Amino acid sequence: MQSVTTHVEGDVLVVLVNNPPVNALSWHVRQGLKDGFEQGLADPAIKAIVLRCAGQTFIAGADITEFGKPPQGPDFASVLKLMETASKPIVAAIHGTALGGGLETALCCHYRVAVPSAKLGVPEVKLGLLPGGGGTQRLPRLVGIEQAAVMCSLGEPISAKKALETGLVDALASEDGLAADAIAFARDAIAKGPRPTRSLPVKGDLAIIEKLKAENSRKWRGFDAPYANLRCVEAAAANADIDAGLKFEREEFMKLMTGSQSAAQRYMFFAERQAAKIDGLPKDTALRDVKKVGVIGAGTMGGGITMNFLAAGIPVTIVEMQKDALDRGVALIRKNYEASAAKGRFTQERVEQMMGLLTPSLSLDDLAQCDLVIEAVYENMDVKKDVFGKLDKIVKQGAILASNTSYLNVDEIAAATARPQDVLGMHFFSPANVMKLLEVVRGEKTAPDVLATAMAIGKKIGKVAVVAGVCHGFIGNRMLAQRQAPASQLLLEGATPQQIDKVHTDFGMPMGPFQMSDLAGLDIGWHRDPNRIETIREALCAAGRWGQKTGKGFYDYDEKRNGTPSPEALAIIEDFRSKSNMAKREITDQEIIERTLYPMVNEGYLILEEGKAQRASDIDVVWIYGYGWPVYRGGPMFWGDLEGAGKIVEALERHGIKVADSLKAKA
Ligand code: 3HC
Repeated sequence: MQSVTTHVEGDVLVVLVNNPPVNALSWHVRQGLKDGFEQGLADPAIKAIVLRCAGQTFIAGADITEFGKPPQGPDFASVLKLMETASKPIVAAIHGTALGGGLETALCCHYRVAVPSAKLGVPEVKLGLLPGGGGTQRLPRLVGIEQAAVMCSLGEPISAKKALETGLVDALASEDGLAADAIAFARDAIAKGPRPTRSLPVKGDLAIIEKLKAENSRKWRGFDAPYANLRCVEAAAANADIDAGLKFEREEFMKLMTGSQSAAQRYMFFAERQAAKIDGLPKDTALRDVKKVGVIGAGTMGGGITMNFLAAGIPVTIVEMQKDALDRGVALIRKNYEASAAKGRFTQERVEQMMGLLTPSLSLDDLAQCDLVIEAVYENMDVKKDVFGKLDKIVKQGAILASNTSYLNVDEIAAATARPQDVLGMHFFSPANVMKLLEVVRGEKTAPDVLATAMAIGKKIGKVAVVAGVCHGFIGNRMLAQRQAPASQLLLEGATPQQIDKVHTDFGMPMGPFQMSDLAGLDIGWHRDPNRIETIREALCAAGRWGQKTGKGFYDYDEKRNGTPSPEALAIIEDFRSKSNMAKREITDQEIIERTLYPMVNEGYLILEEGKAQRASDIDVVWIYGYGWPVYRGGPMFWGDLEGAGKIVEALERHGIKVADSLKAKA
């Protein structure tokens, strides 16, 4: 199959791209475009050219799989130049998503028409890049500096309607008449002639640049690409000569392209998509129908889980044992939705629509007709087994029974039923309506279609779902334990909570181990006996320092929950240390990395050795979407490779930590 074909419609040549699945600008597409446009320009009978795409979408960008490989075919810039400087008008006919290099190709056409459902954007920043095909220079000329700066630095696409308002497209076509409408537009354009974007002046106000930086300072912490995008938009304003701006853009693009941040972000693009694939399971495995969901537990987790389904239009029956707890849970769901509506995220009507899908209940019997039931009760094996035993007797055959356990053995839970093939774990991360990660825990007896359905439902409710095997803490929490335990040990040896947390936040994590403990609550799992003190955590709990909820933990908190170093907590740590006869010593930041991050990498290798994760990149997806590992570092496994297996093994052995065989083999 040829990826670019042409056909003549009277005096118009249609250049048609057909490179499934997303019409990426692979080398053979660039070659086809060059050939197609040269054909149109050379033929005196052709007066105008239309560029259109077959399939789902207009060109969705450069072919990311080609990045970092030896170049093939004509380079992108030369194809764009050929188009922009063409002597006959070229019209882009846009449907689906015109993204990145795709939109840049459209910018080098002289006119653009789009169907109303189309979306247009430059998402390169999400890959740690900038639109390196002239996007940062041509967008300000078409839509102005403000809109261009927003589009380039945030990477969100805009609707066709907005594109029309801003001048990015010249006309809207009818939804199912794009081919004909574009040709008609091209005929009209013959009299007007070509209108190259490069000939337009840059308009707008540069004040937007500082505004964007201020508004996004938290979100962009540690990232290079958003700032590089903005520098290029500034260069567009500073250079009336577009070629000077294009040269600057090229230099900035190459810096990002050859850097580790973009390599990590591009890797994550594919890792995320790969995570959806279940090894050994045919792609066409028939899924079970999930039309009605049951959630047991209306606490923070149960409520958050419920919100995901309501937002996706799936009715939920939520069950609690006590009426006041049920009422509280339902009220909290409504409050959360209303807070979002107040922020303008959706209308009050939508709040009522979602709440209308919710059925509160005090009886498990009301779950009988559910297709999927998710248990989110207290994290205790006996309690969970009891719930699953009851569900087995109540819920219709063929339904999927899932536990939201964060650590417990899913096989043991499944064994409490007579249908272990229908049981698995669906581990959401708190807050469950916000965090993107879903660990789908495959039990020993989980049926393939049950697993595939849980993965698909995860996607439907907007999660990134990853398959995990049964082991204590699955992928994420199992690795987390390898960070938390040495972090506590380092306190005993002389580090402070703030030193350890700072190493982690400087690394790019949203919070460090002790800030995270304070958020979760230090009293979780505490035996509640203030006289029994065997750990620093128990000493803090005994002093009423339970974390953010009591206004004090490893840190002191104000009413807005801003934490500051706590002299009292430090004194408790000192006291515990001296009672433990531990000598205080200077701990370097490097040692903190070696003892809290390297063991996580090591654990990742053990997880793979034991087959508890399908692939290394799944582990990275878990850490990026579940724990806020900085995406520009590509997850612990990717980062471990960058650090070097040899360096990690040497450090782990120096600290007396047992090294995974597969990690050792790589060193
Ligand atoms: N290059 C190579 N492969 C791509 C690709 C690209 N630009 N975009 C998507 N794919 C692949 C995916 O990996 C996936 O492959 P798989 O089926 O083997 O897993 C397949 O196409 C389908 O992709 P999705 O699963 O993401 O399909 P959706 O329908 O959900 O989404 C999309 C479609 C909105 C186009 C989405 O794929 C997307 O956002 N793609 C990336 C767009 C992008 O970032 N463009 C800019 C690229 S960089 C660039 O253009 C540089 C230039 O400025 C010089």
